[in-house]
Amino acid sequence: MNSLIDTLESTIRTIPDYPKPGIAFRDITTLLGDARAFRRAVDELVQPWAGSKIDKVAGIEARGFILGGAVAHQLSAGFVPIRKKGKLPYDTVRIAYSLEYGLDEMEIHKDAIRPQEKVILVDDLIATGGSADAAIRLMHQIGADVVAAVFVIDLPDLGGAAKLEKLGVPVRTLVSFA
Ligand code: ADE
Repeated sequence: MNSLIDTLESTIRTIPDYPKPGIAFRDITTLLGDARAFRRAVDELVQPWAGSKIDKVAGIEARGFILGGAVAHQLSAGFVPIRKKGKLPYDTVRIAYSLEYGLDEMEIHKDAIRPQEKVILVDDLIATGGSADAAIRLMHQIGADVVAAVFVIDLPDLGGAAKLEKLGVPVRTLVSFA
């Protein structure tokens, strides 16, 4: 038994057949709304980098913004948003990636990360890893050193963590739903 994992897992709500039949949706809003669980999740996500120099934390829209902001604060790092196309106001770098149906694009401000800066990518959940993979490639395009990708929830059957490891980025997750 692992009490941390049990505590976090018990605060994540599962909604059957959302957004479509057959999907068990892992809803993290209940974890975020639980003060102790939210703090523990953030503390645990950053634990390997406590005391080391991380320049930036990048969060993927939208739930990655909530966790990423807290992670950045905890590591005394800056926060960088990675957004759907057309939402960032200044000059951007853009990448296309595939979704379940068709393509989408995400962007980062071109000056958000300086070459060689150390960055941790944050999102709430990793499934197929499509958006995280694209986010890492996008940051590589502007010269970032992506030292890790961290997620509260892993859906290991969908292979996302393995996909990111192939890019040479270590992955940390806290709770796994197989
Ligand atoms: N994104 C992809 N699969 C998901 C799931 N099962 N729950 C929440 N977000 C997801």
